[in-house]
Amino acid sequence: LLPLALPLRGGATPNPSHPAPKDLDWSTFGFSLNNLKTPYMYLDQLSGSSSHATFDGSGGGSGSLKSGWHNKNNPPKARTLITKHKPLSLEPSSTILNYGQGLFEGIKAFRRPSNEIVIFRPQKNAERCRRGCARILIPPIPDATFVEACKEVVRYNAEYVPPTGKGALYLRPIVFGSAPKLGVAPSDEYTFCVWCSPVGNYFKTDSNATQTTLLSSVSPITLLVSRSYTRSCVGGVGGVKAVGNYAPVFKCQSETKAQGFNEALFVDAKEGQWIEEAGASNFFIYIPHPNKPGGTLVTPPLNNGTILAGVTRDSILTLARAELPDVTVEERPINLSELSSASEAFCCGTGASITPVGDIHVPSVTEEGEETKFIFYNGDRKAGEVTEKLYKMLHDIMWGEDKRLEKKYADWITVV
Ligand code: PLP
Ligand code: COI
Repeated sequence: LLPLALPLRGGATPNPSHPAPKDLDWSTFGFSLNNLKTPYMYLDQLSGSSSHATFDGSGGGSGSLKSGWHNKNNPPKARTLITKHKPLSLEPSSTILNYGQGLFEGIKAFRRPSNEIVIFRPQKNAERCRRGCARILIPPIPDATFVEACKEVVRYNAEYVPPTGKGALYLRPIVFGSAPKLGVAPSDEYTFCVWCSPVGNYFKTDSNATQTTLLSSVSPITLLVSRSYTRSCVGGVGGVKAVGNYAPVFKCQSETKAQGFNEALFVDAKEGQWIEEAGASNFFIYIPHPNKPGGTLVTPPLNNGTILAGVTRDSILTLARAELPDVTVEERPINLSELSSASEAFCCGTGASITPVGDIHVPSVTEEGEETKFIFYNGDRKAGEVTEKLYKMLHDIMWGEDKRLEKKYADWITVV
């Protein structure tokens, strides 16, 4: 029986009727396709006059049909929007293939111990996708359409949502120009697809090869500050999830890995002094007060448009401000030299979750200079106390394991 037969659900009522997870060895899953394909995806297309006439890039907030994308109030004529997972066929001259006119999102759905399935903050991804659409001239997907598409994909692929604590079903909404075109201009047709894949941990370091709900047994990662490559610049597209932001990171990533580090840490393109983010995650440090309890949690600000506005970043800032009274929260530039006063550092993102950083290597700017090394965890390979608290709160909300937090942050959770 297909999940379509289920009543559409909203609010916080558990839906125990979801099928149990498939009998797979979930503990071996990493952040990859894990050699499997989920059966269903969401697929919509906007073409001809509908993409032109309504193309104002201005929004399309909840429920708006401004852009003409289909949804249950504006059903497509010939077909359903959920289809079997299948290859897409594209003209070689499509604007996505030639000019990179496309965006993607990353969202996780979790199975709670009650068998209820929830999606974490899809509304925030919908908003970010809409801002990205405005930046690269794609007709915006109304937030409600975006969120409903994610829910549908989870409902149809519910058997692939791993058991609690064993990972998540990762949703990949993609939207791109799919019409043929030679002129350097926006497409006349757009495709919106949501596909999904079950995933485990993003980083594979030695002790986190298997899933854990306790961050204290996750190995910290090592970062190398990139001196040769930058990810983003003022006026560019680093602040949105444009597909073209990721391939330029590959070479840097591969060189970083070849030197024995897990990930590159990018600094600003102009002065090379100010930390921005890793290639696919935001960055935080914690600076303890020198002579009293508590300290300051710092992450770089979003104001110059070079850093992606992570949903995890926003969640951490909110939790730290509201739930950690000893911690002051600052969104301000972080100079590389400040790493010496930090006692904790971590990366965060939907894929990366909260991943503690064990050490950061900063190559000298000149050939003769020395590399500086900042070590946060040595020997015991544990995350710091503040990193641990944030991880626990975030996952308690995702997995519904803290009633007080769950109630307070109820709007972060979309029940499927
Ligand atoms: N920065 C970049 C460049 C990313 O690709 C991501 C992942 O989406 C993030 C940060 C973290 O964002 P989020 O927490 O929304 O996944
Ligand atoms: C995510 O964390 O969801 C991302 O999209 C980052 C990366 C996997 C590209």
